[in-house]
Amino acid sequence: MQRSIAVARPKLPDADALLPYLRAIDQRRIYSNWGPLNAELERLLGDRLGASVVTCSSATDGITCALRAVLEDRPAEKRFGLCLMPSWTFVATPHAALAAGLTPCFLDVEEGSWMLTPELVRRELLAGLKSNLPVAAVVVVAPFGLQLAPEPWDAFTAETGIPVVIDSAAAFDGLSVARTPSVVSLHATKTVGAGEGGFVATRDADLAKRIKRVANLGFLGTRLAEVPATNAKLSEYHAAVALCSLKGWPERRAEFQSVAHRLRAAVEPSGAVFQPGFGEDWVSATCVLRLPDGLGAGDAAMGLGLRGISTRAWWGFGCHTSPAFAHLPRRNHAAQNRLPATEVLAHSTIGIPFYCDLSDAEIAQIGTAFAEIAAATPAPATETYASPAGAFPVLVSAA
Ligand SMILES: Cc1ncc(COP(=O)(O)O)c(C=O)c1O
Repeated sequence: MQRSIAVARPKLPDADALLPYLRAIDQRRIYSNWGPLNAELERLLGDRLGASVVTCSSATDGITCALRAVLEDRPAEKRFGLCLMPSWTFVATPHAALAAGLTPCFLDVEEGSWMLTPELVRRELLAGLKSNLPVAAVVVVAPFGLQLAPEPWDAFTAETGIPVVIDSAAAFDGLSVARTPSVVSLHATKTVGAGEGGFVATRDADLAKRIKRVANLGFLGTRLAEVPATNAKLSEYHAAVALCSLKGWPERRAEFQSVAHRLRAAVEPSGAVFQPGFGEDWVSATCVLRLPDGLGAGDAAMGLGLRGISTRAWWGFGCHTSPAFAHLPRRNHAAQNRLPATEVLAHSTIGIPFYCDLSDAEIAQIGTAFAEIAAATPAPATETYASPAGAFPVLVSAA
């Protein structure tokens, strides 16, 4: 009988694994304010990354704190304005920029890598952004866990003076850190989970201190609020879960990798294309792939759904189509107000089931479904799809 397959089934440490940590909390009576469990978590992550690490209540809050802290380097009049970012991201990214007092300005991504590149952002700056607001900062996003080299962004900041924050929410595995702060999520749906939580990593120890100050109501060693700030601390309970997850990470990573290999072998013959290195160089807790030529995301979701397979458009039609952000500026250097690569990605990619214990039977069911749907797909054609921002004709093709 065909089973119903969920798109995600997070697995955090069980009660037995957590008990020693909880007993330690009971004994110490330290529940938050970067207590000993947070200190241990920051040290372990810092050693692993060769960087300074600040734990925080979520990646969303981490991005806000990192933005506020990097803006402290700028003259007062340049601390406000546009925050350039891709529309092809989770809604947390623009929410975080708004919370930092900035105005998100959505750019189109590079279609091949699904992300912003320094060249692309430089081109946009040269072309002029047609806004009265200056560019205050950039947030770049590592899509669905794909690794992103941070050094070119250090160079971008050195050259332009514009600070950058890297939203690496899903990119715990193989994260590479430079001066530009990278923010990772410890949400339950990520590879190393705390339930809710996150951390910011940077090779600049002074910047890390300032990020901590912003996450700690502006306090740094005294009870004076030195800068505008928020409370984004991670509780000791969440740190306990994160420490347990981190301890089990080598085994969990091997499980994700094994599932990824088997899933690729089952699905790739249909013509679907996985992100480069997925399951080989890096793993993530979600799997988003590019559909076979000619197969649109809506048809694929319906075909898979009819075969008991849940899917998710994790980033919808791009943030610029969310009602909360539709009024915000957006820019593509070639076509003002259109984000063609984002539109193509929204229509040609799909999140499919992926979790650490996806079974062989479930993988076979997914592989068969892809084969059947791809076989029934006509040659690539131009289609129109509706989104909250309007109707766009798009070529339903990976070419
Ligand atoms: C790209 C991106 N940024 C930010 C976040 C927010 O992470 P958190 O839930 O830890 O706030 C997510 C969550 O999935 C994400 O995918």
